[in-house]
Amino acid sequence: MPEPARILVMTGATSGIGAHALARLTARPGTRAIIGARPSATRPALDGVEMLPLDLASLADVRAFAAAVLDRLNGEKIDMLVLNAGAQFRDTSGRSAEGYELTFAVNHLAHYLLARLLLPAVAEGGRIVITTSDTHDPNILRGAPARLETDRWAHTPGSATSAYAASKLGNLLTAQSIAGLTQTSQRRITTIAYNPGLTGGTGLQRDFPAPLRVVFRALRPLFILLSRLRPQLYMSTPEHAGDILAQLADGTLTPPEGRVYASLVRGQLTFPAPSALAQDPEARDQMWRESADLTGLPAR
Ligand SMILES: NC(=O)c1ccc[n+]([C@@H]2O[C@H](COP(=O)([O-])OP(=O)(O)OC[C@H]3O[C@@H](n4cnc5c(N)ncnc54)[C@H](OP(=O)(O)O)[C@@H]3O)[C@@H](O)[C@H]2O)c1
Repeated sequence: MPEPARILVMTGATSGIGAHALARLTARPGTRAIIGARPSATRPALDGVEMLPLDLASLADVRAFAAAVLDRLNGEKIDMLVLNAGAQFRDTSGRSAEGYELTFAVNHLAHYLLARLLLPAVAEGGRIVITTSDTHDPNILRGAPARLETDRWAHTPGSATSAYAASKLGNLLTAQSIAGLTQTSQRRITTIAYNPGLTGGTGLQRDFPAPLRVVFRALRPLFILLSRLRPQLYMSTPEHAGDILAQLADGTLTPPEGRVYASLVRGQLTFPAPSALAQDPEARDQMWRESADLTGLPAR
């Protein structure tokens, strides 16, 4: 019997972890994928994939992409919404089209807006996966947020490292908020915040000098050795991290009841508690409201 048709909408599908996840997901016959990517991105040579323009550095672009997706769907529903795109910059001088700090704008604000615009089109029993990072947690990364400062992160951020960590906390809190909505529980939608863990050989460090990127990748055996002392230093591969992302998206893997955070630790999928701040319901609700304000949406 043929597999039932299914629809995937995805960001960050053109490189690294996401490119591997897309290849795995579209390998199943009957999968239709709509991916959002910048015109400069490498178009995946895969069957069933339609690429629509999306620069996450512009909220206007996000709105146009969401409208184009809904138009293409023509009333059909999204089975898998995978918000995986991410960027890390050398410093925090970059600004989005709307004037927000670029890391926070691309990684968090754009995905927050996209998730809210597409949520009504997610199918009953569908799945939403947002890629976060264990670097959101001050126990893993010094400089990760211990308190919520949405406005500062959007306007006057500190270091590039803490900007990235704050944006990934934003991804996690967004996933927690979506999971807590009445409409997602009523429609049995599973929401997951996925941490692939340190993954070498992706494009994430493309803003950094080439020699540094080469050294970083070549040191994989050393990172794996060091991970015996600090598990977060285990360096995974884009193939493995992408494979797990695909399995979380299509339901082959699923978190235990009530868990949202899925984290690869030393290459193994675990479902630990995220940072204290990421578990705080007040922080979750505040981030939701403030992100609504920053993206021009109503709080509800
Ligand atoms: N690698 C790690 O160690 C690690 C660890 C924890 C979490 N993560 C997260 O994993 C996810 C995937 O990262 P990766 O390591 O696979 O890096 P990657 O190879 O650089 O992939 C990032 C993806 O995001 C897209 N993207 C970046 N900026 C964009 C923009 N302004 N508009 C539209 N698309 C944009 C890229 O598109 P282009 O092809 O156009 O560049 C690419 O498809 C990210 O969310 C990252 O934060 C990575």
